[in-house]
Amino acid sequence: MGIKIVATGSYVPERVLTNADLEKMVETSDEWIRTRTGIQERHIATPEQATSDLAYESAKRALEMAGIDGGELGAIIVASVTPDHSFPNTACLLQRKLGASKAFCFDLSAACSGLLYSLVTADSLMKSVQNLNYVLVIGAEKLSSIVNWEDRNTCVLFGDGAAAVLLKRTEDAADSITAFELGADGNYTDILFMPAGGSRNPATQETVANHLHTINMAGKETFKLAVTAMYTSSQNVMAKAGVKNTDIKYLIPHQANARIMGAVAQRLDITEEHIYMNIQRYGNTSAASIGLCLDEIVRGNLIQPGDKLLLTAFGGGLTWGSLLITW
Ligand code: ACO
Repeated sequence: MGIKIVATGSYVPERVLTNADLEKMVETSDEWIRTRTGIQERHIATPEQATSDLAYESAKRALEMAGIDGGELGAIIVASVTPDHSFPNTACLLQRKLGASKAFCFDLSAACSGLLYSLVTADSLMKSVQNLNYVLVIGAEKLSSIVNWEDRNTCVLFGDGAAAVLLKRTEDAADSITAFELGADGNYTDILFMPAGGSRNPATQETVANHLHTINMAGKETFKLAVTAMYTSSQNVMAKAGVKNTDIKYLIPHQANARIMGAVAQRLDITEEHIYMNIQRYGNTSAASIGLCLDEIVRGNLIQPGDKLLLTAFGGGLTWGSLLITW
């Protein structure tokens, strides 16, 4: 028995917000954004669309690829920092939309590392829970709902989107996840966080007026910690799996900043043609970003059975993780 990734799906909202559009909103330039981050445009949800709506579109596409309906799902895990509500969880909202009445449902909070944390959780659950044959993992974000659109330091970075990955218990003995490492360091909770809206700082007129319901980030510090965390955990996972950098078909880093991804790849000595990037079109979509890449790779027929993918992420918490996937 093995636990395999058998389908993927993704969705981004229609509306595109370009760097030129942002030039009209804050004091910035297309040149600054492109050279410092690699981002050219991002997609923004409509006011009516919530995270579960984006998640639903990506989930439908993954289920279509697998040729199954929601009723076959044993569990749904949604990774998000922008759930529709604090409760009920977004996975339950999605369960209703998908008619996945047999699935147990929960959300997982690990910021931009959420998809990788969720994939490892799903894989482990499927190994320990009998008859859990299909688990749907989704990274979905409406980050535009927690961005301070007056802060040029952050508002240029983020976008909305969702990506789904379907895991199946198969007769094949090999697992898709060959090796993984997850990590966290709670000493850095305050360099990347949303100060209000939880039990520490419930919403008041003052918290709203002070933009405390939006992403606060110490960019430079995050940058350095991100490179170290993704590089180190990638190295560890390659060592665990017994693979070399030259064995990697695609390094798929969390799409936070092209310079962060470049620095990680350079340290790993992985060449440009083996790094997968789509940040130029989507910006940083947090838990969705690696899934958006994976779905493009799958639908573009860019990988063959046996190819090795190295997924690596970091995010608020701090959290990080790397997965070696054998396709
Ligand atoms: N347009 C123009 N100028 C800007 C902008 C902008 N949008 N934003 C900042 N600047 C200015 C700054 O004010 C600063 O000006 P100053 O020197 O007069 O003070 C100057 O540009 C340089 O700013 P730096 O912070 O040094 O720029 P840096 O090269 O570090 O890039 C960035 C900033 C892009 C934020 C980078 O630090 C970064 O990517 N950090 C990591 C971000 C990240 O990955 N976050 C993860 C979040 S994911 C999650 O968990 C939700």
